Amino acid sequence: MHKRTLLRATACAALLAGGGGLAFAQGAPFKIGLILPMTGQQATTGRQVEAAARLWIAQNGDTVAGRKVELIVKDDTSLPDMTRRLAQELLVNDKVDVLAGMGITPSALAVAPLATQARTPLVVMAAATSSITQASPFIVRSSFTLPQVSVALADWAPKNGIKTVVSLVSDYGPGIDAEKYFKERFVLNGGKLPESLRVPLRNPDFAPFLQKVRDLKPDALFVFVPSGAGAAVMKQFAERGMDKAGIRLIATGDVTDDDQLGEMGDVALGVVTSHHYSAAHPSAANRKFVEAFQKANNGLRPNFMAVGGYDGMRLIYEAVKKTGGKGKGEALVNAMKGQMFESPRGPVLIDAQTRDVVQNVYLRKVEKKDGQLWNVEFDVIKDVKDPGKSK
Ligand code: PHB
Repeated sequence: MHKRTLLRATACAALLAGGGGLAFAQGAPFKIGLILPMTGQQATTGRQVEAAARLWIAQNGDTVAGRKVELIVKDDTSLPDMTRRLAQELLVNDKVDVLAGMGITPSALAVAPLATQARTPLVVMAAATSSITQASPFIVRSSFTLPQVSVALADWAPKNGIKTVVSLVSDYGPGIDAEKYFKERFVLNGGKLPESLRVPLRNPDFAPFLQKVRDLKPDALFVFVPSGAGAAVMKQFAERGMDKAGIRLIATGDVTDDDQLGEMGDVALGVVTSHHYSAAHPSAANRKFVEAFQKANNGLRPNFMAVGGYDGMRLIYEAVKKTGGKGKGEALVNAMKGQMFESPRGPVLIDAQTRDVVQNVYLRKVEKKDGQLWNVEFDVIKDVKDPGKSK
């Protein structure tokens, strides 16, 4: 009897010391269900966020607090019904610990009730309508909001000779946020905004809208379109000779997206935008990030979506660490609240009350450096909270 117990104890110790023991100590994998548009109109967002998430794992290891990290990537083709179905499968079949991604606002809103029901954190890495974080107490955002970045440009414009503006936005959540917050602030600053134009999100034809802008002859056209659609706006802006007609283009940084800026050509030169991230942000942390990202992705330049993905992974990793690898649901969300760190974009804080990002907003101008176009930052408004939350 005694001998057998001893034998068992010895076997157990050997197991713990060896590879089997390691597996035992690690426990179950930590599963992240990353839902992104990998094909279709928003495919660049999926490509950028996935690449950034994989870079984070390559740099920080695929084990955190003793849990092996399993990244499960699903393509929702940016259709919200598909996002919802995939989220359901990831929750029920894969039993993921965290849902993440969300390329567009309708996807995030479609998944919000499931996150609440399953008490599972949903890290929104891309979508940027202000109200998203209010759709579930389990949502934490690592991207930005349109009100956050639009107000800075509405302060800059009237001080720089722009007295009348026409706005042109994609007709859905983030566009309506951009239009509202730009207009309110611009008018408050004494500017005039005689017309607000909205173009469909899917397969937009900007031509008739731009013709209308030409006829109205404002000092500037303010634009928001989602990441991936900026190059088309820029091309048609040039083709219609808007710049030659003396109409300036100003926009949120979604339009001069670093993913596409290289192919936009000289028409983009001088375009002023406001945003939270530029691949040209002059910090050591950003230079390191851009270099590693390009090295791992055939020279692809990271855009603001990539940074949302990279920082979202950090939020998750830190939350797993803080909860000793045992945290689930609410404990993970609580461990994400109040996180503060230096992102490639600059300093970032997750507001514990709103679960939204507090960050710097930069004014930038497109300039050519070493033969390439960049969003060069020339001013900064520090620690901007989402103005959409104070209403
Ligand atoms: C959104 O749908 O929330 C969205 C998508 C792309 C952007 C910004 C916002 O660039």
